Amino acid sequence: MSVVDEPDALRGISMREFVAKFQTDGFVIVKLQSLIQQTTVLREQFEASFQRRFTDDVNRNRNLLKRFAELPGTARLFLHPDIEIMVRELGVVEPVFCGPIVTHYTSHDVTGNSFGLPFHQDWPSMGSSRNSMVVWFSLTDAGADSHSLVVLPGRHMEGLLPGRHTERGYVLDPIDKVGEILQIRAGEMLIMSAFLPHKTFVNPHYEGWKMSLSRRFDDLSNREWADRGFANAYGTSVDRELYRSW
Ligand SMILES: [Fe+2]
Repeated sequence: MSVVDEPDALRGISMREFVAKFQTDGFVIVKLQSLIQQTTVLREQFEASFQRRFTDDVNRNRNLLKRFAELPGTARLFLHPDIEIMVRELGVVEPVFCGPIVTHYTSHDVTGNSFGLPFHQDWPSMGSSRNSMVVWFSLTDAGADSHSLVVLPGRHMEGLLPGRHTERGYVLDPIDKVGEILQIRAGEMLIMSAFLPHKTFVNPHYEGWKMSLSRRFDDLSNREWADRGFANAYGTSVDRELYRSW
């Protein structure tokens, strides 16, 4: 079964309407059974092999989160053929990955530290094709009752909004809009424009945790990117001093 023959993958609307919705809102949510199953397995693995190894050493826990992003099963999730199909349908003609898989762990424990990035856009931390997209999954149900993501629908059309560069990304100047808290079940796939303003929704009353994963896609056919020599903001660096610190 794939996105072309799973009847409710697009929530009951046609692919054409789905593409139009993406263009208007800057995001869509896709429900694919095979991805939901893969995510269920990943969540079990996360709890059994990674979260179980958490201690009160925050750096160690964050390293575990990074190692989770490097799990073969996590890589496989983003290699699902339907992701490429959907990204192409939504306007990335020749998709290439942009940067590594990123984990987003939200909780009130020492590792999550109740942290949520304020409204930001992802594009400045990519600096690549302007039609690039972000694919995002949560291992847990995300919504107003738990932790989630808040978006400002339609504001991707305004391009880069005023903001400032911080160590954690390009943070927008204060916006007095509440935004839309996304309701996304575990394993459903969010695809959003790299220009869609979004932020983490941290529910102060929720005692559970949210673990989400994202990966970005660039478009090799984008002319403006070609003019800029296909550069992107990611690089590979090796900490050659690490072993000396042991
Ligand atoms: Fe982001």
